[in-house]
Amino acid sequence: MSPPTVRIAPSILSADYARLADAVAEAEAAGADYIHVDVMDGRYVPNITVGPPVVAALRRVTRLPLDVHLMIVEPERHLEQFAEAGADILTVQVEACRHLHRVLQSLHSLGVRAGVALNPATPPVAISQVLGDLDLVLVMTVNPGFGGQPFIPTMLPKIAEVRHMLDEAGSLAELEVDGGIGPQTAAQVVRAGARVLVAGAAIFEAAEGVAPAVQAIRSVAEAGSP
Ligand code: DX5
Ligand code: ZN
Repeated sequence: MSPPTVRIAPSILSADYARLADAVAEAEAAGADYIHVDVMDGRYVPNITVGPPVVAALRRVTRLPLDVHLMIVEPERHLEQFAEAGADILTVQVEACRHLHRVLQSLHSLGVRAGVALNPATPPVAISQVLGDLDLVLVMTVNPGFGGQPFIPTMLPKIAEVRHMLDEAGSLAELEVDGGIGPQTAAQVVRAGARVLVAGAAIFEAAEGVAPAVQAIRSVAEAGSP
């Protein structure tokens, strides 16, 4: 069997916000596939990060798809603004959506790719009735809110379960994982079925630099072994 194609999505949460454009350029030159932007509102999660103006600024400095992860309450109130700012993928937390189906329809009508994230305590069945409307499923492998947290190993069977659900449904939605991903965990998540790997600290805090860090994650991910 040929090795799976794995996409790497560096999370700028761990980059230097005073020089974001440089960080994104470095990630792009290193072969990153997406730029992952963590939006936190201080309500859904304890932390506060960035909003649409920063997405718009990033849009001007990279051609890579912007993978925008909304860790906010009432995401339906802000989808249009993020789409206009230039997000390519908008991922909402399933737990933050009172009407998930409606949110997904809004995302489609805004012309962005529709993603849904599941917190560690949320079972895959939460998305079973909307599989046909999903372009991306994000399995959180830490509790959202902060970069640099340790990977939660009990998420591995959940990744496999979501992989199975998507395959059974004939869905081409991407299966993304986020939290504690690096060279030590990349092979296991890919073996479980993940195909997009978000990594923040392992890329932007790597002593060896961004490019070697991206390459290290890609090589273990595609080899399927550490
Ligand atoms: C966590 C965020 C992640 C975070 C991952 O709430 O959604 O995208 O940046 O950071 P690392 O890779 O450092 O665990
Ligand atoms: Zn994220």
